[in-house]
Amino acid sequence: MGTPQSLPERVDVTVPSVARIYDYLLGGAQNFAVDREFAERLMTAHPYTRPMARLNRTFLREAVRLMVGSGIRQFLDLGSGIPTAGNVHEVAHEADADTRVVYVDYEEVAVAHTEMLLADNDRATMVHADACDVDRVLDAPQTKRLLDFSQPVGLLAVTLFHYVSPEKDPFQVMRRYRDILAPSSFLAMTHLTLDTATQNIAELMQQTQNNVFPRAEAEIIELFGDFTVFEPGLVPIPSWLHARNVDAEDNPEAGRLLAAVARKP
Ligand SMILES: C[S@@+](CC[C@H](N)C(=O)[O-])C[C@H]1O[C@@H](n2cnc3c(N)ncnc32)[C@H](O)[C@@H]1O
Repeated sequence: MGTPQSLPERVDVTVPSVARIYDYLLGGAQNFAVDREFAERLMTAHPYTRPMARLNRTFLREAVRLMVGSGIRQFLDLGSGIPTAGNVHEVAHEADADTRVVYVDYEEVAVAHTEMLLADNDRATMVHADACDVDRVLDAPQTKRLLDFSQPVGLLAVTLFHYVSPEKDPFQVMRRYRDILAPSSFLAMTHLTLDTATQNIAELMQQTQNNVFPRAEAEIIELFGDFTVFEPGLVPIPSWLHARNVDAEDNPEAGRLLAAVARKP
């Protein structure tokens, strides 16, 4: 496993971060020994963690394809993570090179590597911000330059909100994002559902920079507000993928991540 190149300043390499753990689970090289050690412990306790990460990434790509196929040409990707194979702008640009993408993340390594990747790309950009700071995300010069909120946007919150504590009020944060979107905008989300296994994951994750807050299905669906959820609804990721005829590993335990895509009326 490699060492991350050009270490950004202020990176805490002593405490694992979810961006880097996820990168390791997906086979990336932008992670540190603490991240790898933690990920290995997580996989020992919950062996479906890696398949779950892969399925999540497959869902993200498939959701982008669905949106691009429905005419969406601009994306706001909240909690975008460390770039890996099949990033949102790459999937979207396969369909239309003019599609614009704004990535948002608060993790230093994710931000640094995305900025490096996009250095010569005038259709995709990175905003270094807490996605819960809605004004900061929307008022960022990069967002203003690339996104036109009078037109439909594809909003991605793929494994984001289970990292948002009740104190930060994810329901209010999502309401604000939903409100600024034009009619026919799309929203794709995955979120950890609540059971004894995910409660244990949440306990383990207290050793990292990112606390985890699994939520009951009824709470997760609330994040979609009055948006119309497409078939097959809010379901385990493998079921969502199978419903769209995507060849995906059938791992029932990885189904603890629920997924849905919805459209603003
Ligand atoms: C598991 S990764 C998912 C990456 C990508 N969305 C995907 O699904 O492949 C979660 C990412 O969300 C970021 N994140 C979590 N909470 C955030 C917040 N409040 N604001 C911005 N980024 C956040 C983490 O830093 C991490 O990069």
